[in-house]
Amino acid sequence: MTLSPLFYSLLVLATLSLPVHAQEPPVNAERGKELFTLHCARCHGMQGHGDGPDAGTLIVPPTNFHRAESRVKSDMDLRSAIIWGLAFSPMHGWWDTISVQDIRLITAYIRQLAPYTPSSP
Ligand code: HEC
Repeated sequence: MTLSPLFYSLLVLATLSLPVHAQEPPVNAERGKELFTLHCARCHGMQGHGDGPDAGTLIVPPTNFHRAESRVKSDMDLRSAIIWGLAFSPMHGWWDTISVQDIRLITAYIRQLAPYTPSSP
């Protein structure tokens, strides 16, 4: 069987591009922390207490994730606030800046700082 040069070069390209998948960043908690530190800590604070360096300049204070009001919220509630933002608030949506996967990692990191605590009935 003879392969056309085009087919052959496509085959080589396909083979060469395989390792790219192997290099995708592994899902880990460190990345959630990095992203939170980069994008969120200036308002929410390094430990999520709502006391970041920019917090004092805002009319609406950034959420302290350790408060009961925040801890009873589901991961989906938090993710939706991160993705879409909150109306009339400095908390804008991040849907066009941070990937869905990264938003999951950030949410997991927030939950690591302040674990989900369902309210008692
Ligand atoms: C410019 C400051 C600012 C930045 C940056 C910011 N936030 Fe916020 N965030 C706020 C404020 C202010 C609120 C509270 C809004 C309100 O109560 O109306 C809030 C609310 C939230 C809430 C809702 C919490 C709840 O209990 O309902 C979540 C979740 C959240 N932020 C996550 C994030 C994440 C994750 C990032 C980074 C990707 C981030 N925020 C970046 C200011 C900020």
